[in-house]
Parts: sequence; structure tokens; C-alpha cells
Amino acid sequence: MGKTERELIGSIDAGTTSVRFMIFNQFAEVEAWCGKEFTQYFEKPGWQDQDPHEIIDRVNECIEQAVEELEAKGDYKREDIKVIGVTNQRETTVVWDKDTGKALHRAIAWPDARTTPTVNELAKKHPKGLHALKEETGLPLSTYFAAVKLRWLLDNVPEVKKAHDEKQMKFGTIDSWLLYNLTGRAVHITDASNASRTMLMDLRKQAWDPKLCEFFGVDPDILPEIKSSCEIYGTIASGPLKGVEIAGIVGDQMAALIGQKALNPGEAKNTYGTGAFLLYNTGNKIVNSEHGLLSTIAYQPGPGLKPVYALEGSIAVAGSAVKWLRDSLGLIKEAPEIGKEAAKVEDSAGVYFVTAFAGLLSPVWDSNARGTIIGLTGFTTKAHICRATLEAVCYQTEAVLHAMAQESGVKVKELCVDGGMVDSDQCMQIQADILGITVSRPQMRESTALGSALLAGAAKGMFGWKMDDAKTFDRVNAQNKDHFKPKISEEKRMKMIRGWARAVERAKGWVKD
Ligand code: G3P
Repeated sequence: MGKTERELIGSIDAGTTSVRFMIFNQFAEVEAWCGKEFTQYFEKPGWQDQDPHEIIDRVNECIEQAVEELEAKGDYKREDIKVIGVTNQRETTVVWDKDTGKALHRAIAWPDARTTPTVNELAKKHPKGLHALKEETGLPLSTYFAAVKLRWLLDNVPEVKKAHDEKQMKFGTIDSWLLYNLTGRAVHITDASNASRTMLMDLRKQAWDPKLCEFFGVDPDILPEIKSSCEIYGTIASGPLKGVEIAGIVGDQMAALIGQKALNPGEAKNTYGTGAFLLYNTGNKIVNSEHGLLSTIAYQPGPGLKPVYALEGSIAVAGSAVKWLRDSLGLIKEAPEIGKEAAKVEDSAGVYFVTAFAGLLSPVWDSNARGTIIGLTGFTTKAHICRATLEAVCYQTEAVLHAMAQESGVKVKELCVDGGMVDSDQCMQIQADILGITVSRPQMRESTALGSALLAGAAKGMFGWKMDDAKTFDRVNAQNKDHFKPKISEEKRMKMIRGWARAVERAKGWVKD
């Protein structure tokens, strides 16, 4: 092997329910990897907490085990890992003591809806209500975003309020928390894509905005420094990769856009993880959505460079509904069973499952919606429920794509997909049927981990990769894709979509304060 061929890139992908460490070569082949789940705490209806220290422990274990696996295979040594990228679940909120590094509370996870009353209170402060901060942030006021969760912590946890008022506290999303810990507390930073999910950053300037901080009653001193998504931030302080530089940070959904090589305006992807997130690259232009989509930073390709923006449709529940069928209802034993069950029936026999466990995000934005299964009859079987669960994410994807077409005037002709759920052929066929367009799936589906690896490699100037030149990634993950083409009639498709819209109306506004 030549010198460059020996060079590898590591990627930490800290998702909502599991973390993983993947080691890629220059073609995006996975040389070794390790993934581990961590605990989700559901203490009250609509709540979802995580232990930030457990997340760090699992990340360190994954790094150790993946490096062991790499060396055990014999082709490479740990020294071949030249750089590391980090990608993460986004809006999840962590606060910690600036001296001890100890978390002051469990992390409030992004799907958590305890802040519904906080949102309602904040909306009252502004004549534009939920759209109060849309121009500056690209986001509606929602339980989803970090500043709202931080406001809740300040209002409800005296220890957090005290630490905040005494400037004893640091705040961060999971990327900040990881970087702080992995570098031995040397840096307190975030990247522009993660910062764009807090509601505290001005989307147009990539800087914390004093007015937004004032709106949420947050002291700007507790916030991390905003960096680009592609530069060297620091080095790993301990463990098998001690001394290796970290050089790419990006939110996981933006990472998947990069991993799918959708680097040019007009390109889009949908990732089916815990939730599902459809991102549409709008280049250096912010497109303000009139149809329930978010404007967000996809990535900033280097210090001082113009960011690439995206329109996003966020669907709160995708794989988490499958997990719920498995862990809470015991309807299936393993996640892949759902596709086999769904394939036993031709359709859901009129059953719709609106998986609004903690409200509905794009394009509906209703924090008060709750999960609803409707259309049950004596004929309904487990197979119909399984099918309706898969259909739920497919219908929501259709609604988001419809909104994107209205926004841009252009209908996406083919949808690029990735994430855990896309392993199911049945699910992807249902998706193609509901969309009425081709769904295309890459061979290597870890687009999220790959995205941060590409940023980290580009920051180090490896393999000739350049973030402003998609062609430099031509040899990355270049195998043929699988294609799923629609098989149902347009009449049936429209009837199904109308049924879904009626079911959504039933789920909306269920929670009353
Ligand atoms: O905004 C939430 C998102 O970043 C979570 O992604 O892949 O963990 O569902 P995922």
C-alpha cells in the first residue's frame, strides 16, 4: 500500500439512542467500527432525558473497541488514523459546572416535549407568536430547540439557575460536550450547524445574538465559541487515539447531507434514524420557508467562509416508533421484523398511526399533538399495525417533500435515503409508493458518520478532498445504488395521503395546558 492509502479517518457519530465510532478509508469503506446504545429516561409523559456522562463513557468504549478491531484485522495500526470528525444528535441540551466538568442535570433530549408551556409563554412575549424569531434563527418557537430547553432548566432547576447567575456554568449541545471531554476540557466550542439549532445564533451572521440571548434570559458567557465545521479544533487527550486531531464537527442531519455528497444547491437527502430529517441544499442562500420548513446552516466549509444553508423538514419519530413497538409493546422482538410483518399485508386496511409521541414537527408544528392510532377494526392484525408504523414516517416524508416543492417550485425527482430504517426493502418500497417517485439507497448507508469524516479529512487536506468541489469526492462511496420505484396507482396513492391528512387532524391539539 502507498502512503496515502494507509491513511484513515475516524468518525464519532453520537446519535439519539446510540453512539458509534467508525473508521473509514479514502473510499469510505468501513475498516472497523463499534456502536453502543445508551439509556433513555422517560420519567413522565413527553419527557426524555439522557445521562451526558454515560454518552462520554460509551464513546470512549466505542473508540477503544473499534481500534482493537482495526488492529486485530492486521492491515492497519492505530497510527494510521490521522484525524477524527464528530457528528451528533443536535438540539439535545447539556449544562455543566465550569470547574468540575460535572453535568448539572441530565441532558434534555431533542424530542422532549416538557417545554410545551414554556413555548406558549415565550410566544406570548412577541406579536408574531411562534414565529417571533423566524427571521434571525430560521426556526419557529418549539419544544425542539435548545434555548427553550435551557429556559426550562433555568426556570425549574435551582442549581442550574444559581450556576448560570454566578457564571459557574457552561452550556452546550452534544458536540460541545464531546469536544470538551475528549480534549480534556481544553475547548468549549460548537460549529455553526449545531449553533443554528439553539435559537441563540443569528443565522445570517453565524454569531450569538445578544437580543436572542435576552429573549431567552441566557447569559452569553455560558455559550461555546462558534467555529466553522471544517478546521482543527484540538486533540484527543487520552485513550488509544491520544494526540489525534479533531477537525470536523457537524450536526448529524447535515453530516448525512455531506455523506450523500449533496454539496450543490438543489440536492437533497432523507435520513431515517430515531427521527427522519429531509435536508435540501440551498447553497449560500437562506430560503425563508412559508410552508413549515426550517432554514438552517448545513455546514460552514472553513473559518471565515460563507456557510452552505439548507431547508429542513424534521420528523420527530421514525426509528423510535419501531423501538417503541419492540420495547414498550413487545409486538416485535427485533427491529427488522417490522418489515417482514408489514409485507404480510397489501396495505394497512385503513389503519393510520400518527406517531406524534411528543407533538408534530415539520410541516405541522404542533407541540400539543399526541400519538394516535385510528381506523382499527376487528380485521386489524399485528401486520397492519406494523405497516401503519412504517407508513407514518413515509407519509410525513411526503408532506415535507410536498412543502419543499411548494417552497422551491421544483419537485424532487428522486429521493436519496440513508439511516438505519432504510435497510428494510419493504419500508423503502412503501416510501416509493407513497411519494410516487424513485427512492435511491447507497450501498454504504452510514452517511452521517461519513459526513463528519469527509469534513475532517478535508480540513487536513487528505486525499485531495475539498468541500467546495464535490468532484473531489467522486471516488467516495461510489458503488451502485439500489432503486425502489413506485408500484401503486396514483389514485390509490392520493387516497392514502388524504387518509393520513385526516388522521393528523385527529392527533393535533390533543394536550390542553
Ligand atoms: O435534530 C435531531 C437529530 O439530530 C437526531 O438525529 O439520527 O439521532 O434521529 P437522529
